[in-house]
Amino acid sequence: MSQRITAVVAADLSGAIGKRGGLPWHLPDDLRFFMRYTTGKPVLMGRKTFDSIGCKPLKNRLNLVLSTRPIDVDGIEWVSTVEQALQRSRDEPELIVAGGAGIYALLEPLITDVRMTRIHTRIHEADTFFPISLPGGGWTLMERELHGMDERHAYEFDFEWWSRSTPLG
Ligand SMILES: NC(=O)c1ccc[n+]([C@@H]2O[C@H](COP(=O)([O-])OP(=O)(O)OC[C@H]3O[C@@H](n4cnc5c(N)ncnc54)[C@H](OP(=O)(O)O)[C@@H]3O)[C@@H](O)[C@H]2O)c1
Repeated sequence: MSQRITAVVAADLSGAIGKRGGLPWHLPDDLRFFMRYTTGKPVLMGRKTFDSIGCKPLKNRLNLVLSTRPIDVDGIEWVSTVEQALQRSRDEPELIVAGGAGIYALLEPLITDVRMTRIHTRIHEADTFFPISLPGGGWTLMERELHGMDERHAYEFDFEWWSRSTPLG
């Protein structure tokens, strides 16, 4: 079975994904998309992203947290290498790479798909950026759906699905 490895990310028009250890926006329908898309799938995240979500597991998912130091939290499986994460999830058809920047960069050669929420703004003083350039590098845009601005969403954004048939590496 060939496994899909999907990065799920929200980024602004400059590729910013984070600021001061958190998300620089609050977009409920994007969070809903993340929850819906990743439920039931193994999710790999870096320790700082794990901190940013309150050091708690996401429900109904295998939570793999990458860190150089052991993590002892119910519902979390600590992994110390990418190879361990791949081994742990190898029987699943899709592994979710949930960031942050360090983890997207580590997995980049293996990533087959990117589910990108592209937010139509440029965040001032963002400090964390998505390391994969889209388009380019053999990436094809499979789908794009616009979500408008409204009283709950301060920005317009697109849900984009990018895919490449031959990941590097
Ligand atoms: N917009 C989005 O979609 C999105 C998604 C995710 C995160 N974010 C944002 O991104 C920021 C966090 O991202 P980040 O890049 O700073 O941190 P990160 O990638 O979440 O975590 C980095 C940590 O992962 C561990 N790690 C990284 N490489 C490793 C390796 N080769 N072996 C073992 N452990 C390794 C280390 O943990 P230890 O230090 O414990 O060893 C490292 O400090 C936050 O602002 C967050 O809100 C945004």
